[in-house]
Amino acid sequence: MISTRLTERFGIRHPIVCAPMAYVTGGALAAAVSHAGGLGVVGGSYAGTLGGEPDLETELARAKSGKFGVGFITWALERAPKVLTKALKHSPVCVFLSFGDPGPFAAEVRDAGAALICQVQFMAHIDMALKAGAAAVVVQGTEAGGHGASRSTFPFVPEAADYLEQHSPETLLLAAGGIVDGRGLAAALMLGADGVVVGTRLWASADAFTPKAHTDKAIGVTGDSTIRTKVLDALRGVPWPREYSFRFLKNKLTDGWADREGEAFRAFGTLSAKYAQARVQNGLDTVAVVCGETVGLLKDRPSAESIVKSMAAQAAGLLRRGGKLKFTSQS
Ligand SMILES: Cc1cc2nc3c(=O)[nH]c(=O)nc-3n(C[C@H](O)[C@H](O)[C@H](O)COP(=O)(O)O)c2cc1C
Repeated sequence: MISTRLTERFGIRHPIVCAPMAYVTGGALAAAVSHAGGLGVVGGSYAGTLGGEPDLETELARAKSGKFGVGFITWALERAPKVLTKALKHSPVCVFLSFGDPGPFAAEVRDAGAALICQVQFMAHIDMALKAGAAAVVVQGTEAGGHGASRSTFPFVPEAADYLEQHSPETLLLAAGGIVDGRGLAAALMLGADGVVVGTRLWASADAFTPKAHTDKAIGVTGDSTIRTKVLDALRGVPWPREYSFRFLKNKLTDGWADREGEAFRAFGTLSAKYAQARVQNGLDTVAVVCGETVGLLKDRPSAESIVKSMAAQAAGLLRRGGKLKFTSQS
C-alpha cells in the first residue's frame, strides 16, 4: 500500500479519490470506491439547478456505508446554497468544490467538520482556494473528461507542488486529468501530488450511473476522439463561465459546429429542448458522451473495486521497481 499525506489525513488505504461526476457518481459508486480503500465523492453536480439530476439525499444515504464526500459545481451551488446545508447534515468527510470561488461556502463546510477540497484549473485559482482555507487543492489538467480548462496535467502538477511548498506547505495536492491506471498514479506522485482524482476510468465502471450506450460507444475508440469545446453548453443554454470548456466524445453536433463558437453563443439555449429530448432517448449524435483523453485506454467496464485495487497495486509495483529503468554507472 502507498501511504501519503492524503491516506493519512482521511484514514484511507489508497491515495485515490473518485471524482464527483455529475449524473455519474451516485452513492453506489462512491461507496464502492471507499470500500476498495479509496475515497468516494458523491456528485452533487449542479445542486439540482439543471434538472434530471439524481436525488442527492438518496445518493448520500447510499454512500453512508463507508467514508464519503460530496462535490458541487460552485457557480451552480451559488444558485441553490441550501443544498449544501442539507448535504452537510449527512456528515461527509469532505466537500469538493470546483469551478468558482469557494470562499462563500468555506465557513459552513469548516463548521460542519468537513475538509474543503477545491479543484482548480489555473495557478491563479490556487490563491482563491488557499484564501478559503482549503485542506486540499486538486489541479485539473485539460486531459480531463467533463468541464475544465487549458492547463496540462504534466507541467501543472509540479508547478502547483512548488507553489504550495512555498506558500502553504500543509495544503495537500491532488492531481486530476488523464489518470487511468497505476502508471498515472505513480507519475502523479512523482510530480509531487499526494494523491489523484479519477474520473473517466470510474465513469466506465459497473458501479457508475453511466448509460451502457455511452460506454459501448467509448470503449474501443482512441484518445483522439474527444474534443474540448464551449459550443455545446452555449447551444443547450447552460450558463458556464466562459473560462471553462467541456470535454466529451466528438459527435455529429460537434462536427457541425466546429470553429463556430461565436455563432453558438449568439444561439444560446436554442438547442435546449432538443438536447433534453435526445438525452432521454440516448441520441448520441447530439448528447455528450462525457469522458476524457484516457478513453483510448479503456478496454472494459469492470467494478470500481477492481479499478481502485489494480491502480494502487500497479503504482506500488512501478514505484518499487522504478518502472523499467536500467541504471549504469557510466556518466
Ligand atoms: C462524466 C464526468 C462528469 C464530471 N462532472 C464533474 C462535476 O460535476 N464536478 C466536478 O467537479 N468535476 C466533474 N468532472 C471532472 C472530474 O472532477 C475530474 O476532474 C476529471 O474527471 C479527471 O480527469 P479524468 O476524467 O481524465 O480522470 C466530471 C468528469 C467526468 C468524466
